[in-house]
This record gives sequence, structure tokens and C-alpha cells, in this order.
Amino acid sequence: MKIGITGVTGHFGYDVVKDLINQGYNTKNIIGLARNVEKAKKQVPSIEIRKADFDNLELMEKALQGLDRVLLVSTKEPDPQKRIVQHTNVIKAAKHNHLSLLVYTSGTKPDQNPLGFAHMKTEEFLQSSSVPYIILRNNYYLEVKLNDIQRAINNQPIVTNVGKGKFGLALRSEYAQAAANVLIKPLAINQTYNLTANLVDYATFVSTLEKVLNKPVKLKNITDDEMEKAMINNRISDPVASLMTKANAAIRNGAGDEVSDDFKKLLGRQPKGLEESIKALLK
Ligand SMILES: NC(=O)c1ccc[n+]([C@@H]2O[C@H](COP(=O)([O-])OP(=O)(O)OC[C@H]3O[C@@H](n4cnc5c(N)ncnc54)[C@H](OP(=O)(O)O)[C@@H]3O)[C@@H](O)[C@H]2O)c1
Repeated sequence: MKIGITGVTGHFGYDVVKDLINQGYNTKNIIGLARNVEKAKKQVPSIEIRKADFDNLELMEKALQGLDRVLLVSTKEPDPQKRIVQHTNVIKAAKHNHLSLLVYTSGTKPDQNPLGFAHMKTEEFLQSSSVPYIILRNNYYLEVKLNDIQRAINNQPIVTNVGKGKFGLALRSEYAQAAANVLIKPLAINQTYNLTANLVDYATFVSTLEKVLNKPVKLKNITDDEMEKAMINNRISDPVASLMTKANAAIRNGAGDEVSDDFKKLLGRQPKGLEESIKALLK
């Protein structure tokens, strides 16, 4: 079974390829999809690399020729409308090539988070496309909190407007392992999995950090206005600061608060606990 992975030069795509190889999946059947073929060949020399640009439907259709299953790793395009076009190009190419499965990395409660708009539209497009699909709604990668962790290490307070909102934290590599498993296992199609683990609010995240770092860590709760101003002072552009502040407010209102044992089902084991994950990240 030939499996394609988009964004193979990125963290997530690369982790998935690494996991497939580690699991002993035949490297002849792993195809990396990248806009920069040379970069991808250097990074993963053991697999076939095909040129694929999210913004070029024709090229994407060619890149997916002869593949059975593809992982569409959601893009980082900040403009939601452009991001939707990038994702739908892959879905159109999947349909054109009669793929037997398209796996899409979405986000937790996409309808409740402004960052989830493109995820929601992509899910809708995929569900009405007739392409067999599996959607993985990933909660936060722990890596997203690296800035907070770095502040704690530097004895600076962690500053947030998330309040008592809860969110799940797991290593990006574990979400990637779950995605790799979905690509090679015979699972039921047209399913949505909620990948979430270690649900915490900021106070619990900070007390876990204190245990790992073995020192006190200060937490400062601020308002949405203060958060937006602080980001702008940190040279984050106005629209991004506004979007990130709103996304945090959505988490405060429950957009990250997802409980499910889907992660365990797809990994075949419990995801690592938060303390262990933070330690692994700091190694
Ligand atoms: N749940 C969470 O907490 C969380 C956090 C962060 C991100 N995410 C999501 O996860 C995704 C993957 O994250 P990541 O860390 O792996 O991102 P990353 O390391 O920045 O990788 C992005 C990949 O997309 C490729 N790419 C960008 N534009 C492209 C285009 N027009 N055509 C083809 N390829 C293109 C990049 O290729 P080049 O190497 O050529 O640039 C790279 O391979 C993100 O895009 C985001 O949607 C989720």
C-alpha cells in the first residue's frame, strides 16, 4: 500500500515518516510530498520524494498518482481562506486519483476556536467529497508551550489570558505516531478521532512545571486587552496578536476542554503523562 505524506520537510510530516520507518513499513511504499524536493531528499534520503505544492492543484494531482493513502498535514498558512484552498486542493487531488483514504490533521473543537475556522471548512469539504477519510482532531502539541517553559526556566512569570480554561498537552511526536498508525492500520473509514491527553488549566500546567524544574514558577493572569498589547509590544503583528488573543479566550471558554480515549486507541497505549512529556521535551 503506497502512502503519501504532505509537509515532509516539516516537524509533523517528518515525525510521521520516521515513525513509519521505525515500525518497519517498507520504505518503497512511503512517498514524501514536498514543495522543495532537494530539501526533502536531504532530510529523508531513504524514501521517494515527489514535488507537491499546496497552491498548485495540477501538481498535487500528479503527485498523488498511484497512491493509496495520504496524510494531509494541515498547513501553517495564516490567511484562513488561502489555507482552505490549500487543503481543498489536496482533497480534490485525492478524489481525482481515487485514493482509498485521506487522513487530515484537524484541531480540537474547530467550531469553537477562531484558529479552527479553516479546519472546520476543510472537514466539511472532506466529508462531502466522497473521498474516504479519517479526521484527527489534535489538541495542543506540548511544543506550543515551549515559550512558557523557557520563561519558567529563566525565572520569568508565565503570562496568560487563558484563565481557568483547560487544554490537552501531548508531545507532537505522539500525535504523529497516532497518525502513522491510522495510515497503516485497517480502521473503519469516515471517522473522526479526538486526540487529547493530559487535560490541564494553566495553574496545573505551572504546578507540573514546578515539579519538573524543581523550583517555583510564577503565573500571571491578565485580561484579553493586556494580552493583545503585550503581544504587540513583543513585535507580533496586530492581526496575529488579535487572533491569538481570541484563540486564548476561546480556550478559556472551553474550546480545548476535550476528554476522549481516542489517543489511547490509536497509539495502542496511554500517551505519556505531562511530567514525562515535559522532561522528554527538555532532553
Ligand atoms: N495542535 C497544535 O498545537 C499545533 C501547533 C502547531 C501547528 N499545528 C498544525 O500542525 C501543522 C504542522 O506543524 P509543523 O510543526 O510540522 O509545521 P512546519 O514544521 O512549519 O512544517 C510545515 C510544512 O509545510 C510545508 N509547506 C508550507 N507551504 C507549503 C506549500 N505551499 N506547498 C507544500 N508544502 C508547503 C513546509 O515546507 P518547506 O519546508 O518547504 O517550508 C513544511 O514541510 C501546522 O501547519 C499546523 O496546521 C498544530
